[in-house]
Amino acid sequence: SLIRKSGRTIGVLVPNINNPFFSRFLRGIEDESIKQDYVPLIFGSNNNEQMESRYLFESVRRAADGMIIASAVSDLSYIDNVLSQNQIPYMLIDQAPVHEGDMVDVDNYHGGQLLAEYLIKNGHKRVSIVTAVKPTRNIQDRLQGFLDTYKANNVSINQDQIIEAELTKLGGYGATEQVIANKPTAVFAINDEMAFGLYRGLEESGFSIPDDISIVGYDDIDLSEYFTPKLTTVHQPAFEMGTNAAKLIIQRIENEGIENQKISLPVSLVERDSVKKIN
Ligand code: RIB
Repeated sequence: SLIRKSGRTIGVLVPNINNPFFSRFLRGIEDESIKQDYVPLIFGSNNNEQMESRYLFESVRRAADGMIIASAVSDLSYIDNVLSQNQIPYMLIDQAPVHEGDMVDVDNYHGGQLLAEYLIKNGHKRVSIVTAVKPTRNIQDRLQGFLDTYKANNVSINQDQIIEAELTKLGGYGATEQVIANKPTAVFAINDEMAFGLYRGLEESGFSIPDDISIVGYDDIDLSEYFTPKLTTVHQPAFEMGTNAAKLIIQRIENEGIENQKISLPVSLVERDSVKKIN
């Protein structure tokens, strides 16, 4: 019969399916799930809290055996309650866990450091940062790594050089005016999508990248090599984040009692053409 006791289903919640970072992440989850004869139920919440809780309940209703949550859900203890009550193991990506559990960790602090070191090496002392309005822990860490590195090099970054926007292309585009008002020589866009929004905004305002303003991003989505100039960014292993998240949650579904596991994945600087050396 096609009907089994367990549906071998993993509910997956991501904030934005539009962002190629999450498509790669999801492909990783699919790849590993299929290998282990599980099926991912994928939900994109479009950064909408109501959708998030609706999909959470749908996953419970459809008897998901476990969940991977990469969405910036605001009330984590609520989620924790709902899922624990229903005895559904889950893991969070990119956020501080409610309590000890399995974890896929990528060193965002180090990623921020790498970008700051690179910009400093290229002579950029006046930088703007375009970051998320509601930053999850990974984004806070990458920003902190960046700020600490500038500070350690005795270059101060003021609050007005940090601009907040939605974590999308449109968010980056919308931040253009504030960036220009800042008069930076370089901009750190906290993800690649925002960097490409800025590409458009700055070009429409007559700036040329990197001659007038340098830009760095974060994620290394596939498009980074297709825009001109090719984007310098930090590579996040999105596919491996997905395969490992699926591995851990499946292990947890099948062996409730095993010890918590943490998988750390590396990040690396990908140097391309969007930064000009100015010293
Ligand atoms: O681009 C999407 C961002 O959200 C990534 O940087 C990733 O870390 C996720 O949090």
